[in-house]
Amino acid sequence: MPADSAFLRACRRERPPYTPVWFMRQAGRSLPEYLAARDGTAMLEACLRTDLVVELTMQPVRRYGVDAAILFSDIVLPLHAAGLDLDIVAGVGPVVASPVRTTADVERIPALEPAHVAPVTDAVRGLVGELGDTPLVGFAGAPFTLASYLIEGGPSRDHARTKALMYGDEATWHALAARLADIAATYLRLQVEAGAKAVQLFDSWAGALSAEDYARYVLPHSASVLGAVPEGVPRIHFGVGTGELLELMGEAGADVVGVDWRVPLDEAARRVGPGRALQGNLDPAVVYAPWPVVAERVRDVLRRGKAAEGHVFNLGHGVFPDTDPDVLARIVDLVHEETRG
Ligand code: CP3
Repeated sequence: MPADSAFLRACRRERPPYTPVWFMRQAGRSLPEYLAARDGTAMLEACLRTDLVVELTMQPVRRYGVDAAILFSDIVLPLHAAGLDLDIVAGVGPVVASPVRTTADVERIPALEPAHVAPVTDAVRGLVGELGDTPLVGFAGAPFTLASYLIEGGPSRDHARTKALMYGDEATWHALAARLADIAATYLRLQVEAGAKAVQLFDSWAGALSAEDYARYVLPHSASVLGAVPEGVPRIHFGVGTGELLELMGEAGADVVGVDWRVPLDEAARRVGPGRALQGNLDPAVVYAPWPVVAERVRDVLRRGKAAEGHVFNLGHGVFPDTDPDVLARIVDLVHEETRG
C-alpha cells in the first residue's frame, strides 16, 4: 500500500526501512523517451492530455525506481485552465499576455472550477492504478511565485515589479495573493480527492524576500493554501534560496520543508526546529562531476539528513535538462544501498 511506502513514512517522521528518493523535475528534457513522447505537443497542451500526463509521469518512475512520482504538469497550468491568457515558451518559461498590476486586473482572474482541470484529475485517477505502491505527489505554485509571473509578465531575476506592487499597493497585493491562494488550494484539493498521496507547494522564488517581508506579505496566503489540504496528506513546502525563511516556511503549515543546496541539512534541521521532516538537497550541478565525487556528495547529504526527524532525499532544485539519466539512476541505487538497515 502507498500508505506504508518509505516516502510517506519519512514525510510522517516515522522511520522508513531506507531513505526515500525522488527528483524535482524528474520528468522532462533529460529523458529521451520524454522528448519522443512530447514531440510536437506544446507544454500546456501536453498538461491537458490525460494519456500524455500519465505516460510522462510514469517514465521517470520506470527508469529510476524513485520512491515517489510527481504529476507531470506545471505551476501555471491551473491559471491557464481557468482562462488566463498565458503560455509556456520553451527555454523561457511562463509568459503572460497582459500582466496583472491593478485591482481591476486582479478581479479578472477567474476562480478554478473542477471542470477546468478534469483532464488532470482524470490523469491522477489513472496514475493511482498504474503506480501501485508508489505514491503520487500532487503540486501547486504558491501565491508569491505565481504572482511574480503574473505581475512581471514572465520570468524575472529580481522580481522588482512584484515587490513594487507589494510595497506600494498592499491592498491590491493581498487581493491578488488571496485569489491565487484560492486557485492553488482548489487545485491541490482536487488532486488529493483524485488520489494524490502528498502535495508539494512550490514557492520557488520566495527566497527573493526578507524574512520580515515574507511573514507580512506571503506567509498568510501560503498558510491558507496548506491549511486547505485534507487532513493526513503530507504537505511539502519548497523554495530556492530560502535559507533565511526555512523556519517560517515550516510555520506556514508544512510537514516537510524542502531545502535547496545552500544550507546543509543538519543546519536546516536546526533552523526548522522539531516536528517537521526535510527534503533535499544535493546540488543539481553535482551530477556533472565524476562518479566518486557524486557518491561522496550523496553520502554527505545522507549523513547530515540524519539530523532531521525525517528525510526525503532530493535535489536542491530541479533536474537540469542535460543531466545524464544514468547518473540519476545510480544516485537512487546509492541512496537505497547506503540507508537500508
Ligand atoms: O518532474 C517534472 O517535470 C514535474 C513537472 C513540473 C514541471 N514544472 C514541468 C515543466 C513541475 C513540478 C514544474 C513546476 C514549476 N514550473 C516550477 C516550480 C519548480 C521549480 O523549478 O522551481 C516553476 C517555477 C515553473 C515555471 C516554469 N515552467 C519554468 C521556469 C519552466 C522552464 C522553462 C524552460 O524551458 O527552461 C517551465 C516549463 C516546464 N515545466 C517544462 C516542463 C517539463 C519545459 C517545457 C518545455 O520544454 O516545453
